[in-house]
Amino acid sequence: MNPDLFNQLARSRRSTFPDQFVAGSKVNDAIIKEILTNATWAPNHGKEEPWHFTVFTGKGLKKLANFQSELYKDLAGENFKEITYGKLQQNPLKASHVVAIGMKRSVNKNIPETEDISAVSCAVENIYLSITAYGLGGYWTTGGITYKEEAKSFFGLSEKDKLLGFFYIGHIAIPSTGATRKSLEEKITWINE
Ligand SMILES: Cc1cc2nc3c(=O)[nH]c(=O)nc-3n(C[C@H](O)[C@H](O)[C@H](O)COP(=O)(O)O)c2cc1C
Repeated sequence: MNPDLFNQLARSRRSTFPDQFVAGSKVNDAIIKEILTNATWAPNHGKEEPWHFTVFTGKGLKKLANFQSELYKDLAGENFKEITYGKLQQNPLKASHVVAIGMKRSVNKNIPETEDISAVSCAVENIYLSITAYGLGGYWTTGGITYKEEAKSFFGLSEKDKLLGFFYIGHIAIPSTGATRKSLEEKITWINE
């Protein structure tokens, strides 16, 4: 373990968006499995491991694109926007892999839903850090159909479960720049006497 290396990893982690990916370039499935194995080592209350990942790649990306754009069209009504429909059609095809992030509700009723969501969020941070370590790009999106009840079954989720979004992964063509964070002093209170 090397804290300096980890500090560098955590602080250089960035979101990389679909238009910044190398078009058509595939990440090895074995690397995706390593990344998702790291995700499953996230902390979780009661050993419930409340994550479920549906991985789309190859022809699967087109299936996701069709499903999410058509569901959006069906549900949008008068709010329908051609630009949103187009992005839901095109964006998955720009990625190497898209991982649908599912939260499967704990069986143990004593565990509040917010803790299952928190555990899956920890898993997503492990995905973010892992892609950074592998020199890959990616980001978590909660756009499109993420919070639609009608979307759940396509991703193997039942009513009490939640779809928390999608993690896009690809090789980086254009790195993200210009990230900022507020000073730590604004975000921390010390109680030490
Ligand atoms: C819960 C969550 C949901 C997000 N949803 C979106 C999204 O729908 N669209 C998007 O462009 N980015 C989304 N992001 C990524 C943020 O845009 C990104 O983290 C932010 O711009 C900071 O950049 P960084 O990740 O490079 O530090 C999401 C991030 C989180 C944690």
